[in-house]
Amino acid sequence: MHITHFIGRAVVTLSLPLLALPHLATAQARQEYLLTTNWKFTKGDVPEAAKPDFKDAKWQTVSVPHDWAIYGPFDGNNDLQKVQIEQNQEKTATLKAGRTGGLPFIGTGWYRRQLAVPNFGPGKRAVLLFDGAMSDAHVFVNGKEVGSWPYGYNSFSFDITDALQASGNNVLAVRLQNQSEASRWYPGAGLYRNVHLIVTDDVHIPVWGTYITTPEINADFAKVKLRTQVATPNNAFQPLRLVTEIKDAQGQVLTTSTATLAATDGQEFEQNLVLPKPQLWSPETPVLYTASSKLYAGETLKDEYSTRFGVRSFKFEAGKGFSLNGQLRKFKGVCNHHDLGPLGTAINTAALRRQLVLLKDMGCDAIRTSHNMPAPELVKLCDEMGFMLMVESFDEWKSPKVKNGYSQYFDAWSEKDLVNMVHRDRNNPSVIMWSIGNEVPDQSAPGGGKIAKRLQDIVHREDPTRPVTAGMDRIDAAINNNFASVLDIAGFNYKPMRYEQANDKLPQGFILGTETASTVSSRGAYMFPVVTAKQKKYPNNQSSSYDLEACVWSQTPDEEFVKQDDLPYVIGEFVWTGFDYLGEPTPYDEAWPSHSSYFGILDLAGLPKDRFYLYRAKWNTASPTLHVLPHWTWPGREGQTTPVFCYTNYPSAELFVNGQSQGRQTKGPSDKPQTRYRLMWNDVKYAPGSIKVVAYDAQGKAVAEETVRTAGKPHHIKLVADQTTLTADGEDLAYVTARVEDKDGNLCPDATNQLQMAVSGAGKFRAVGNGDATSLELFHVPQMHAFHGQLVATVQATDKAGNVQLKVTGKGLKPGVISLKTQAAAAK
Ligand code: GAL
Repeated sequence: MHITHFIGRAVVTLSLPLLALPHLATAQARQEYLLTTNWKFTKGDVPEAAKPDFKDAKWQTVSVPHDWAIYGPFDGNNDLQKVQIEQNQEKTATLKAGRTGGLPFIGTGWYRRQLAVPNFGPGKRAVLLFDGAMSDAHVFVNGKEVGSWPYGYNSFSFDITDALQASGNNVLAVRLQNQSEASRWYPGAGLYRNVHLIVTDDVHIPVWGTYITTPEINADFAKVKLRTQVATPNNAFQPLRLVTEIKDAQGQVLTTSTATLAATDGQEFEQNLVLPKPQLWSPETPVLYTASSKLYAGETLKDEYSTRFGVRSFKFEAGKGFSLNGQLRKFKGVCNHHDLGPLGTAINTAALRRQLVLLKDMGCDAIRTSHNMPAPELVKLCDEMGFMLMVESFDEWKSPKVKNGYSQYFDAWSEKDLVNMVHRDRNNPSVIMWSIGNEVPDQSAPGGGKIAKRLQDIVHREDPTRPVTAGMDRIDAAINNNFASVLDIAGFNYKPMRYEQANDKLPQGFILGTETASTVSSRGAYMFPVVTAKQKKYPNNQSSSYDLEACVWSQTPDEEFVKQDDLPYVIGEFVWTGFDYLGEPTPYDEAWPSHSSYFGILDLAGLPKDRFYLYRAKWNTASPTLHVLPHWTWPGREGQTTPVFCYTNYPSAELFVNGQSQGRQTKGPSDKPQTRYRLMWNDVKYAPGSIKVVAYDAQGKAVAEETVRTAGKPHHIKLVADQTTLTADGEDLAYVTARVEDKDGNLCPDATNQLQMAVSGAGKFRAVGNGDATSLELFHVPQMHAFHGQLVATVQATDKAGNVQLKVTGKGLKPGVISLKTQAAAAK
């Protein structure tokens, strides 16, 4: 079906003073500005700051999106929580220092900004649209409170027309407040997503005012139904006309429709268009169309509005499962939190794009936005790059998980929050399902099923085209009290061994793994002996990258794979998690300085852990995977058992240690799930030199090989960038991996050298991360220790095109230098 309201006409960055505004074409009915620059910010409560004449000159100047807490410092006393985590089957309350990341996000913060509203005057309306504000936003214009929104993850808008001055400058002030013990992870702090100013005529299409569906799709045509709301002064009927063109991605007009508004239409146009020979949207073919509408009163253009959408159909069928465009498939999904590691929660499109590029390469085709509404930029990118989304709303309803969480707002706000969530994203083809909650304790509380029904009904009312799910962990309660049977899709967290039983008892006829695996590992860390373990802790606060360690409630990837492969009615999985995130350092919840997760398939810096290749071997059917672990630099382990694993989509491989065959392993069903998905040589004795795997295809032909060599002393720094040509838009990012290598180019797998970064030219240093969950080094300071030989520096483009150089130095190492280029948007 569809995609977002996308107010694509005049998106410019609004900088002050008014005279410095870029000249906009006259007679433009709608103008949209991103309020990114010239914000003033202070931490602490300053109630007078709402007043227009308040002097904020001494406050910090910041640009938005802005996360006030990511600059640290880390401290175990920040949001120190004494809790018993019921979901984790804990029996007593214990002190958890890193649960929410150990960053200073608690407290009040104020943002202020001059607000120029171009072309404002009689007959005009102005709206502020916040993509999300963390949290409990109170918004003031010229001292008048224009609205508030408690939930930090949701988008919301306020019409500020009545608070604006007819002429002269206006002042916008936003007060935000984060409570302690309000979250189970790092929520971020501040205006961490974009703020838009939208100026329209008083006859206009309101925020999220369109709804596109494709009620019929076949090879010859798709019916496209576009509903467009209009707002008029005092809601009075006016004869209006809406002209809509549907265009393909190249801007070619494919079909048009003109509709007139009658008094009986309830301020809403309905247009039914026929799109010939539609190209279908899917993760593999993310084809998009745009419905461009012009609203006229007589011959006067009143508004213009673009709605991007896609054409696709899907079904969830009992006994069959999920199909997209008629093809059965299973979700190869990951759950992701909203933070961007070293950038914190401040949204950045390039950072999101990089995550999606990495997930695509892994063969991932779906994302669950755990456990809240995503940034609109993510949804837009998923449309464009081809990912199916489960957009999730809440981590708790009426029964709390944390002392000051969403439960305090649930009764008053849950409907409004769901409505905004659905209205914003219901035109996006990437969105396949909505989730009304994650592991809400109400699953087992009296009346929980009723709440589920109420929330699901709200979502259906606002979008009858998509199913609703929830991530359930209390499987027995949820099945016995009908909570699970209410849902369109029964989603279970960490219950592969119960899928059969649940499917027998439930009416839907299919089951989704809403949250799976929660395997823990640290990139590059290998612990001995190599054994399957639950809740395993080591003195260095790391988890083993042999991918055999999970939590008491969770599993290794292979245990889930077995059920996904063997049970046709299981419709896929969402692995916990794609990327490591800030907070929730299980199994080291009580062991500061751990303060970020170990669950990620990729680490906090975005570097793949070994597990990446285990999933890639299963999910990426388009290109081969052959990955061998561990590294082979183990001074002191000579002669000791050092198992070697190979993650590959080839059926078998032979291992050689220093040229000596260790035999051939073949994947196959057995009583251990691992032997079905990994090739394992468990008795290998370490000797320095090299390990080599030679892979064989189904016919027994040697087709690929991979070698890992013992590394010598650290010698130089090698730099590898994810992209070398950036857009000079002040936002684009290059992620540069710095590797400490020996003189022959082997990664020094235990190097911990401190590295310094210096950026010159048309770019600036933005952040650095090494993926070590125990590191208290600050992300925005251009020096950090390598973790297992690597770290990732983020370089940000300025808005001037030119050359950029990143130099990374470290004591005793030959420096690494990389040249990047930035160029104007159109040229890239
Ligand atoms: C689940 C929960 C997630 C995360 C995960 C860790 O129970 O839904 O938010 O906490 O456990 O394994």
